Parts: sequence; C-alpha cells; structure tokens
Amino acid sequence: MVENKSAQRYAEGVHGTMVLALHCLARLTLPKGCIPLQQRFGAFSKRLPLFMLCTSAQCLPLHTRTGSPSCLSLHPHCALSAHRTAGTRSFLSRAWELSEQPLKKLVRRPLRLRLEAGAHEPMEPVSTPYQHSLLKDRSQYDAEWRRSVEDPAGFWGDMASNYHWEQQFETNHQSENFDVRKGKIFQKWFRGGKTNLTYNCLDRHIERGLGDSPALLWEGNEPGTDKVLTYKQVHAAVCQLANWLKANGITKGDAVAIYLPMLPELPIAMLACARIGAVHSVIFGGFSSDALASRVKNCEAKVVITATGGMRGKKAIPLKRIVDKGLAKVSGLVSKVLVYKNPDVPECDWTDGRDVWWQDELASQSTDCAVEWVESEHPLFTLYTSGSTGQPKGVLHTTGGYMLMAGTTTRYVFDLQPGDVYWCTADCGWITGHTYLTYGPLLNGAASVVFEGQPTYPDAGRVWAIVQKYKVKQLYTAPTLIRALINAGDQWVTKYDRSSLAILGTVGEPINPIAWQWYHEVVGEGRCPIVDTYWQTETGAHIITPLPGVWPQPPGCASLPFFGVQPVMLNEKGEELQGAGEGFLAVKASWPSTLRTLFGDHARYETTYFQPFKGYYFTGDGTRRDKEGRYWITGRVDDVINVSGHRIGTAEVEAALTEHPGCSEAAVVGIEHAVKGQGLYAYITLKEGHEYTDALKKELVNIVRSQIGAFAAPDVIHWAPGLPKTRSGKIMRRVLRKIAAKEESELGDTSTLADPAVVDALIANRP
Ligand code: WTA
Repeated sequence: MVENKSAQRYAEGVHGTMVLALHCLARLTLPKGCIPLQQRFGAFSKRLPLFMLCTSAQCLPLHTRTGSPSCLSLHPHCALSAHRTAGTRSFLSRAWELSEQPLKKLVRRPLRLRLEAGAHEPMEPVSTPYQHSLLKDRSQYDAEWRRSVEDPAGFWGDMASNYHWEQQFETNHQSENFDVRKGKIFQKWFRGGKTNLTYNCLDRHIERGLGDSPALLWEGNEPGTDKVLTYKQVHAAVCQLANWLKANGITKGDAVAIYLPMLPELPIAMLACARIGAVHSVIFGGFSSDALASRVKNCEAKVVITATGGMRGKKAIPLKRIVDKGLAKVSGLVSKVLVYKNPDVPECDWTDGRDVWWQDELASQSTDCAVEWVESEHPLFTLYTSGSTGQPKGVLHTTGGYMLMAGTTTRYVFDLQPGDVYWCTADCGWITGHTYLTYGPLLNGAASVVFEGQPTYPDAGRVWAIVQKYKVKQLYTAPTLIRALINAGDQWVTKYDRSSLAILGTVGEPINPIAWQWYHEVVGEGRCPIVDTYWQTETGAHIITPLPGVWPQPPGCASLPFFGVQPVMLNEKGEELQGAGEGFLAVKASWPSTLRTLFGDHARYETTYFQPFKGYYFTGDGTRRDKEGRYWITGRVDDVINVSGHRIGTAEVEAALTEHPGCSEAAVVGIEHAVKGQGLYAYITLKEGHEYTDALKKELVNIVRSQIGAFAAPDVIHWAPGLPKTRSGKIMRRVLRKIAAKEESELGDTSTLADPAVVDALIANRP
C-alpha cells in the first residue's frame, strides 16, 4: 500500500520520464516486468554502469539475480534505490526526497543519494506462511502485549514460572523510577526471588532428561574440525571451571574478564562465572591490548581467561600476547591468567606465578559444583559498549530480569523449541553472543552452533555448508554479512541444502529491502519468515521485533514491541507523537532486561539514557512509525556509528587518532558503505611541521588499530588543514558529513562558520 499519494504520483512521473530518458539514451529493449538500461553517462558512468528500473515490487529481487555488476532500481511505489554489487556504495532514498529535483539532476546524481536504510516508504508487507507454536494470530499478540504493559508484575511473574526459582519472588515484585526529576533512576524486578542463570540453562534440562541432547555444536575454523557437547558435558566443563575460579579466590560479585576466540570454552567460561555469582566481562577478541587494559581496569577483574590464540580464516590472532601487553599497563590488578592452549596457535610467552594452563588446572577439578543462588538483582555481567564520549561504557545487566527476557524473546521470536538446531553467527564478545548464542538458546534447551571461523572462509559457501551440515532451523545474522554474501553470488547458496531452515533473523543495523528480499527469496526460498530484531547492548534483549507468522512483514521493518516494552516516538521537546510520523525512539517504562547502571558511573547512566527526555529511556536511535503502528528504525541520531553491526563511538576513534604526535585535531563521521552499512571517515589536521603524506595516513590508521582494534580503522583519511567550526569553536559535523557523502550541494546554512573558506578547501582536498 502506498501511503503518500504525492510521493506515488511523483514516483510514477519520474519513473515514466526516466524510462523514456534512459531508454532514448540507451536504446535498450525492456524485458518483461522490468526495464534494464545499460548506458554509460560520461565520467559518471564509470561508477554506475548499469541502470535497472523496476515496475513492480516483484522486480526487486530480480536485479540481484542478473549477475550484473551494479544497478539502480526505481520502485514506483516509493523508493529509488541504487545497489552496486561490485562497488563500494549502496543507496536508497525516498522518491519524494527528490521531488523538486529536475530530471537531469536526478539522472546525474543517483550516486549521491543517501542510504537511509529503513527510512524508506514501506513496501508491501510479505506474508510468509508459518504457524507460530505459541501465538495463533495477531489478536492474541495484541491481547498479551496489552496485559504485559498493564500488569507487568503479573505478566512477567507468569512467564517466570517457566524457570527455576530457588526462592520465590514476591507477588508485587517490580518497582522503578524512570524519571530523573523524581530522583535516582532504578529498576527492580522479581524482588525477593533467588535463582541462578546457569542452573536454568543446564541443570534444569538435565533434570528433565535432556542431558544427552546437544547443547553446543562447535564448528572450527577449518572445515571438518568440529565438536558436539551435550548438556551434561557442558555442565561438567562449567563445574570444573567454576571450581577452579573458587579455588583461586573468586567469589560472588567478583569480576572475571574473558578474552577468548569462539571456542566452546567461551560460553562455558560465561556460564561458569554465572554459576558462582561472579560477574563476567567478555572482551571481544578483535580489541587491541590498550582497549583490553582499559576494560580490565574499569571492571576491576581479578582473573583473565584467555587462550594462546585463535584462528580467523588463514590468520592467527595471538590473544595471549595481546593480554600480556595489556596487563603490563594495569600491573598488579590481575592475579591469575588462565590460558587455554589452542592447538592451532600453540605458542605464547609466560609469566610464572600469574599464568596457568586451562588444560592442566581444570583436569583435576570436580565436575560438580554447588550452585550459588543469587538475588534477582545480583549483577550478571558487564559488557563495554561505545557511546558519544571517548570512554566506553560498562553496561551492567542483572540476573532475574535478564534471564526472563533472554529466555522469553528467544522462545517467541525464533519460536525455539528444545532440540532445535539454532545458529547465531555473532561473537560472544558482543551482546548478541551473550543473549542469543549463549543464554537464550540454552534457557530453551536448544542446540546452539558456535562457529570459530570467518563466514567466507575457505569460500563464500561456508555459511550454507554449515546450515546443511547441522540442519540449522533458525539462522540469526547481521545485514552486513548478508550483503557480503549477496556479492559472492547465488550459486554459493543454492549449492547447499537449506531445507532445514524455518526462520531467518537479522540484527545490528537496519536491513535494506534489497538484502531482505535476497535473504527471503534466495536463502529461504520464500518459505522462511524474517525477524528483523531491534535491540541494543543496553536493552539486553529484543525490544521491537517481528514474531514469525504472526503478522505479515514489510522488508526492513522492525515492526512491533515485544511483550512488556512500550516504545514511544518523541519530538525534540520530548513530547510523545501520535500516529504516523518520524521522531526519536524512546521507551516509557522499565522492561525486565533494561540495563541497571553503567558500572561505576551511575551519573553517566542517568545523563546518557534518562536526561535527554525526562521520564523516558532514550535509545539514541531515530524511528519512523507508519499508520499501522509499525516502527522502522532510521539509525543513530548521536555520534555512534554502526560498522558491520559493531558499534563504534566517533569520539573513541578521534581520541585514538589524536594520540599520534603529528595529529592536532581529528573529526570522524560515518559514511555509507555497501557492505559494512557504515564506514568511518576521518578528517585530520596536522600539527605545524608535519607533512601530509601517505605514510602518515598509514600511521594514523595503525594507531586506531592498536588503541581500539582493526575493526575500528578509518576507511578514509581526509587531510583537513582547517575544520569547519562555529565562532565558538564547535566543529560542524553536519558539514563534514555532507562533504564526506559528496553532498556539498546540500550543505545548508554555513553562515555561522567562523571561516566559510574552509569548506571549499576541504572539497578541493578530497582524497
Ligand atoms: C542498531 C546490537 C536497525 C541500532 C544488538 C542500535 C538496529 C544499535 C537493529 C545497537 C535493527 C540494532 N534495525 N538498527 N534490527 N538492531 N540496531 O548495542 O542503531 O551493538 O542502537 O546491539 O544497533 O547496537 P549494539
């Protein structure tokens, strides 16, 4: 359904004229259903060699099938989108954004259209037949959602009865303050209750006879290396590590840092901490020694669990060496480093008295370990994530509420049943690996695939080979990987049997409809509903998400709130907007897995999440709500950038760049990236006496690699002898974003700049 009539008229008008114009130029014949036009337009054409105009929604997937290197498609209902499969950029825009553009300009400018994935006008919802095992239809969801927000204590109390509570919580177990004007922000769920997350993930299933079912299916980096661990085996390994931790002085509430590759030992280490009430802090294996040191210091870890190294494709990552370097910067804090000897990367340096081998130490530990029953609000883990300042934030989650949301969302969103083979491709170093690789699937008695390697190693068919090998039923991944696999070609997918797949999921960033359609049509053969799940490290679990088979799903739409979540759309004054429109996405009341604080900095917690809009949790994202009440995520509205689904604060990257002795000032903005979603674009001003050279560019990139990690390395360095600043010295990032996107014709008002000539110099200086 088209919502915006003028947009429709315009789109149709443009469509017709463009067809004509391009057709005259190209003299091409039009195949049935769509209109491919191949033409080179002067210099510009080198970057956009093929145009394709679609006449209906059904055409959209076609251009991914043509095998053409790149294309532009105009959807007459709403969107003009350009997708360059072989190039570096991808664009999508609403047709009415172009409405005043003369055709000539439109034809010449498509590469400059902004990709606002998720912000486009909805395409027709896709109805994929699927019978959800718990919800028969939309009206049942509506009724249950209403109850969940009108009687949160009752609703979640009922859901909690699916889990073991050593001590029952009170009937009125919930209280909160979400309004900074009324005092300190707090949230309490399941007051009076005592439980243990690991007990619920493992012992509970073993007691009901599932002990011999697979819990973790480990697929190593090299095809053919694998391991199946049953619930009993995971339980035994968890108990051995838990006993070792206790023997080494770790007790309830102590912090343990985990820096491991994607071996089964990683989720096992998390579960071992939770079993004894220790608070884990997993540090993603891609972080550098500096980043590791600051996290270990901030969470006050007494023990670090690591491995000699890990393999990513052909590359060995020397994790222990990175730990050694990092700990040298925080000497005296960590008393023990437990090192798993990975046979693929056997060598490492050794510090006697501090370092011990996992394999040696754990073998002698008992495979039984008493459970530490903890209060519902006992801290479970801290996980560091990027914000808009240079210092990462230690998001803290607690036990009871997190358990409920992790278990319940996984059950409903993936319709997960005991025994299902489920694969989430995330690394445990990120929140998705916590909630949807480890805790959620195990709480539901499923088998969770743990993949060590790279999804394109040894070839682009690896993901589908794994799906076939394990007969994966639910696959959960990130749009960035989907886009990378589209580029590899359909033949890699169709070569493997995907008949086991029933539900496909995405997370981490808005998914562009083209990628959605490919996932749906090519991967899922049109059989599998797609759940485009919206959530954050802070929310602990999905907060806005489709439920498979419960309502038809428009591509690229996160859709409706999960139970217990009350999203609102606000204007800049913090007023709630009703009906269709655009605004800031916030949440009105606590849900069980809201972050409880930022470790060691409750003031920053309140300032970041609760000060911007009084009375609400602010997500930092923008949203658009359609007239059916569905939410579309339009992306971050703060200085956080989403690179390949990894959150990176621009301030963190700037702080790293200015560590270089030659760098006087750095300003980082996001740019569109065809595969990564967003890339990092850094403007650099050098100090007097330093020369702008390519060698220096490399040094700058390297400094980010060493301070944060390779995944945060800038894609572009733009020499900026001057930066656009207001008279009060504030950098005008809006101007920098426009220049980076080559949209300088849309710079807007630059009269407040202290020196407007800076802008021309930057444009002239573009790399
Ligand atoms: C973005 C990842 C659109 C969003 C779980 C959010 C999404 C940030 C989606 C959190 C989605 C996550 N559609 N955007 N389905 N899921 N995001 O903390 O900008 O690493 O604020 O958690 O990812 O990233 P984080």
